[in-house]
Amino acid sequence: MSKKAFGIDIGGSGIKGAPVHLGKGELAADRVRIETPQPSTPEAVAKTVVELVNSFDLDEDMPIGVTFPAIIKDGVAHSAANVDKSWIGTDVDKLLTEATGHDVFVVNDADAAGIAEMEFGAGRKSHGVVQVFTLGTGVGSATFVDGRLVPNTELGHVFLDSAEARKYEDAEKYMASSIREKEGLDWETWAGRLQEYFEHIELLFSPTRIIIGGGVSKKHEKYLPLLDLKAEIVPAELRNEAGIIGAAVLAHREEKALRKGKKTDDTHKAGK
Ligand code: BGC
Repeated sequence: MSKKAFGIDIGGSGIKGAPVHLGKGELAADRVRIETPQPSTPEAVAKTVVELVNSFDLDEDMPIGVTFPAIIKDGVAHSAANVDKSWIGTDVDKLLTEATGHDVFVVNDADAAGIAEMEFGAGRKSHGVVQVFTLGTGVGSATFVDGRLVPNTELGHVFLDSAEARKYEDAEKYMASSIREKEGLDWETWAGRLQEYFEHIELLFSPTRIIIGGGVSKKHEKYLPLLDLKAEIVPAELRNEAGIIGAAVLAHREEKALRKGKKTDDTHKAGK
């Protein structure tokens, strides 16, 4: 049983990858980043993934976990955020397994970040309903119940009811980190939008802990203290590497399940 797996984070602007030390939850070598090809079609992205994998000298049997900004069911993409729409309906597991020659397991990007936080970061040892939100170009969510992932919760796309929020397509378009930058919002105004969003999330899920990830989690002291919620709200600990680490953890679990001769639906268990 290898203690390493390879993680790849596919995003709209960059594709990043590194081997991950699964015992420590750390990258085992410097990560490599390649620009996402444009248009980001399945064929073009698969080529870039092969280039990235080939820049490392990986054991043939090293499994690869891949994050993807989409709803993923049984390895198939059912949506496509910030990547070419031709991904919808693509069997990502199959495409990348055939392209790289490694066993590839794909997972929603926020779910991957959540798996990493539950295993090695701000969600360690937590119980009950814990939710991880990635605030970036879009808003991703990962929901855990006693450490077990409820995949593809897609909570960036809920609707908020204030007059201001209703001017926007959905919550993500109103309170993503990219919107703060685009509209030049000060921290207080943006925190007001986050307050409204997380109050709604609390109404729906009553989480005990909310973990904030994405690049803006680095600046958490600017906005988290302004929020007043029932749940404990904390910054993610793994930051930029969470996707790569979570994908590698997932690949390792899936690989183990396959070796035991069964592909379980119990492979998203984290935080144990
Ligand atoms: C997508 C999610 C994704 C999130 C973060 C949203 O727009 O619907 O699948 O996890 O962006 O990339």
